[in-house]
Amino acid sequence: MPDNKKISMSVVRRLPRYYRFLLEFKNNGIYRISSKALADKMGTSASQIRQDLNCFGGFGQQGYGYDVPKLFDEISAILGLSNQYKAILLGAGNLGRAIVNHVFFQSRGFELTAIFDKNPQLIGSCINGMTVLDVSGLEDFCRQNTVDTAILCLPKESAEQIVDILYRSGIRSFWNFSHLDLSMKYSDVITENVHLNDSLMTLCCCITAAREESALPSDRPEKTEASHSSKS
Ligand code: NAI
Repeated sequence: MPDNKKISMSVVRRLPRYYRFLLEFKNNGIYRISSKALADKMGTSASQIRQDLNCFGGFGQQGYGYDVPKLFDEISAILGLSNQYKAILLGAGNLGRAIVNHVFFQSRGFELTAIFDKNPQLIGSCINGMTVLDVSGLEDFCRQNTVDTAILCLPKESAEQIVDILYRSGIRSFWNFSHLDLSMKYSDVITENVHLNDSLMTLCCCITAAREESALPSDRPEKTEASHSSKS
């Protein structure tokens, strides 16, 4: 694989989508696909797909298209999904529980190894076969176990204090659902922020723009901007 550091984040952010579509094709017995057919299914252009995949060396064959299982394996390798990075989750509330119950850690490059909370009513309880641990033992746990990533499902104020402990313990990557801006605090951490409200506002903006567009008088010149479809 070529040097991934030169790949733009916008390409990286599209890779999970390729992964999802290819997985579905594979599961439906589709083993070969042209870039045009792949583009049509994904609602993008063949040139976008070629451009994206060329960042990693291509993978397509002129006149043949893409070998679906092979491309799936290549994309999985680029995403690093066989890594099984050790992850711990902080905050076993509504969000934390939903994540533990619904996220496919193993097939997405991670192994969830511990869940922590401070609420005595939650400590010792079981979520998807895992026991919630007392957060007071967090530092000891990090000292005794490999921890690559922390998943933050805590209120902002608590996250601030917990992140300091995690940083001191050597953890430098975070899947961050708390509303704390980690990059402002530490310059050497890898953070993937998730904000469902931002996604909802993006949808709102797209609906608003589409409605305004359809309200334009019909004799107005056609708009040349791309459509507003927002694909994850
Ligand atoms: P919740 O109140 O159900 O759960 C929070 C959990 O964190 C509780 O179990 C609490 O005991 C635990 N906690 C608090 N301080 C702690 C500490 N110092 N150490 C260990 N555990 C601690 O809240 P919910 O709904 O699960 O949301 C959690 C946070 O995630 C909230 O701050 C919310 O704003 C945020 N959130 C973010 C979303 C996003 O899209 N980024 C979506 C939903 C919630």
